[in-house]
Amino acid sequence: METHHAIQSLQTSLKQQVRLGKTIALVPTMGNLHAGHISLVEEAKKQCDYVVASIFVNPMQFGRGEDLDAYPRTLQQDIAKLETAGCDALFAPSAAEMYPHGLESQTVVSVPQLSERHCGAARPGHFDGVATVVSKLFNIVRPDKAIFGLKDFQQYLIIRKMVKDLCFPITIIGMETLRENSGLAMSSRNSYLNSEQKKIAACLHRHLLQAQTDIAA
Ligand code: PAF
Repeated sequence: METHHAIQSLQTSLKQQVRLGKTIALVPTMGNLHAGHISLVEEAKKQCDYVVASIFVNPMQFGRGEDLDAYPRTLQQDIAKLETAGCDALFAPSAAEMYPHGLESQTVVSVPQLSERHCGAARPGHFDGVATVVSKLFNIVRPDKAIFGLKDFQQYLIIRKMVKDLCFPITIIGMETLRENSGLAMSSRNSYLNSEQKKIAACLHRHLLQAQTDIAA
């Protein structure tokens, strides 16, 4: 697997793939990869000839007081997992590579309405940060397809809306959430939970399933 930290070296390499007629899939991530991410890479391999994964803990989508500094960064382990999964290239830029002039003067991509409710209401600016970095990744990689987990369902809908509104020539694919045996959705942030908290968190899925059964009845 090729690893690129610079936009230019990634693009030079991708041009060669395009010249060879290869289709390209992008799997954007913030790293600390788990089986859920790997299932996205595996799907990407089925859908396209050449798979690029990105790992970037995007400062623009973290609010003040959120976990930007604490967010788990495990690049060497992530590289090993991507190699095992057969990923072709990794793009792991620094914040300076992605935002060379800082965040203050960065052009922002914003998807109104959808970004303001649910999770967006509690995290003002979060989805602008997501839409902006995903747009940049799309313009850098120019993939034919991009794969996202449906765990972040609001994010998935926002990205689909952005792609439609801005006419990105990219197909967005959503993949089912992978769960622990307890029903807890796999997430990089689960590493913040101790075993007692993981048991409590697993109740969410159980009760939602119960509510679904009750409503259907
Ligand atoms: O879902 C994530 O991991 C991030 O929000 C994403 C899409 C990689 C953008 O930083």
